[in-house]
Amino acid sequence: MQEPWWKRSTVYQIYPKSFNDTTASGMGDLQGVIEKLDYLKELGVDMLWLTPIYRSPQRDNGYDISDYYDIEPAYGTMEDVERLVQGLHDRDMKLMMDIVINHTSTDHKWFQQAKTSKDNPYRDYYIWRDSSDGNAPNNWVSKFGGSAWALEEHTDQYYLHLFDKTQADLNWENDEVRNQLYEMMNFWADKGLDGFRLDVINLVSKVQSFPYDESAPDGQFGKEYYTDGPRIHEFMKEMNQNVFAPHNLVTVGEMSSTSLAACQQYTRPGANELDMTFNFHHLKADYEKGKKWTDGKLDFIKLKQILADWQIGMHQAGGWNALFWCNHDQPRIVSRFGDDNLYHRESAKMLATVMHMMQGTPYIYQGEEIGMTDPKFSSIEYYNDVETQNAYSELKESGMDDRAVMQIIQRRSRDNSRTPMQWNAAQHAGFSKGEPWLSVAANYKEINAEKALADDNSIFYHYQTLIRLRKEYAIITHGDYEPLCMEDERIFSYERRWNGEKLLVIANFFGESTEFTYPKKEIGEAEILLSNYQDSAPNYSKVQLRPFEAIIYYSKS
Ligand code: NOJ
Repeated sequence: MQEPWWKRSTVYQIYPKSFNDTTASGMGDLQGVIEKLDYLKELGVDMLWLTPIYRSPQRDNGYDISDYYDIEPAYGTMEDVERLVQGLHDRDMKLMMDIVINHTSTDHKWFQQAKTSKDNPYRDYYIWRDSSDGNAPNNWVSKFGGSAWALEEHTDQYYLHLFDKTQADLNWENDEVRNQLYEMMNFWADKGLDGFRLDVINLVSKVQSFPYDESAPDGQFGKEYYTDGPRIHEFMKEMNQNVFAPHNLVTVGEMSSTSLAACQQYTRPGANELDMTFNFHHLKADYEKGKKWTDGKLDFIKLKQILADWQIGMHQAGGWNALFWCNHDQPRIVSRFGDDNLYHRESAKMLATVMHMMQGTPYIYQGEEIGMTDPKFSSIEYYNDVETQNAYSELKESGMDDRAVMQIIQRRSRDNSRTPMQWNAAQHAGFSKGEPWLSVAANYKEINAEKALADDNSIFYHYQTLIRLRKEYAIITHGDYEPLCMEDERIFSYERRWNGEKLLVIANFFGESTEFTYPKKEIGEAEILLSNYQDSAPNYSKVQLRPFEAIIYYSKS
């Protein structure tokens, strides 16, 4: 079988609201994306993933869709989308749209109808339950805090919302709902786009008895009853048959709190479900007791173990991982696991190297390629995100003092990645001529795309090389994965083998020097494909690694 094109590709994620504003509205727009296509081509990425641009009240920045068939006016028009598709295809690049079908905004006309009466034809598009002794139907909690149920007073029933209360969960048990969604996705596919990123798609099938959850150690009551639920694989196959296959689309499913077994099943050959999956287990290695809103310390050994388990497990099943450190929900990786101060450049390149040499399709989030950092805003007023605002209130209510609360917010807020893209040293980092909807990080004069492009040794060019290496060396796509030095407290290392070739990655994950000793009896001579320091050691038998040094060795027997 011919290798699917996306196995050697790299995807670039755009959060349009913060990317490039051409109208001085303070919010980025589609024209702004079009303007930057040559920049993205220069980086070498193959496909763009655009977070939702549909009509939305923006309570959750577009993940609350009120009309699937319309574009949010601040972003532009349907013609702009068509121009974007054209602009990409002209450059031999592709477009992946984000689609949110676990829930709609409560402003969506379906919900507006549904809430009017219990007999309304749209009532069954959503999930309604009676109260239980005057309380919510069960103890499930929303991922944004509080109960997952909201009372609709007029009809005196509760509707389910796994996210914000303005994001009502759709009832996937209803065939008509699924058919409407497939029709809508076909409408978009007909516009010529190349793929979909499916928002929290593994949450769409719920256990229909909606049981009370007796125990959830991480406090996420209900999770086991709606994660990778009873009919999920059936639904994925159906959607594939109705939407993906006829248009030959590439798909990536965002999988909330999923399992390796489930992702093997979604993506293994012949599954006819999804092409690849995002999972978040590695990005919880710095949570305290599995909880996000804590000041936890990175458990480095655990991080390595999780990534190794997924690399090996997906490889064995013939499944496919989406590889990533960053997205619009995560803090900036250079601030999180790297050093955004003294070793900004070295640590950003090291992190990129470790991720990009794995098996899967890498995703780069806007600004990651220039090492953008968390903004560390001093006060809650600067933060916009609904989840952050809720967490702030909950932490304050728990009695924690403001300094400690702000420390957690600064580390965990989703706004860390949503500050405007830093293009140059001009006002508002060249993002907008108006007042940006979210403040620009203070370091934009040092960290920006213009500067990165002018410096041969920049993080940008390191990413460019990693993208190119994936195209040139088939082993990156096909090789197996063997973790090395798993007990080492500082070194991240692995090796990949395929067809008589070997790729060895050695990385010092920390800011102190350390020594690497190759654990096998082999002659340590190899070609260095890439390093983030000048003159890295050509023999890998024993290597003195400088702070955050990362080296890729290649050999062929
Ligand atoms: C996951 C998205 O990435 C996030 O931004 C959003 O808030 C939730 N899904 C709900 O749609």
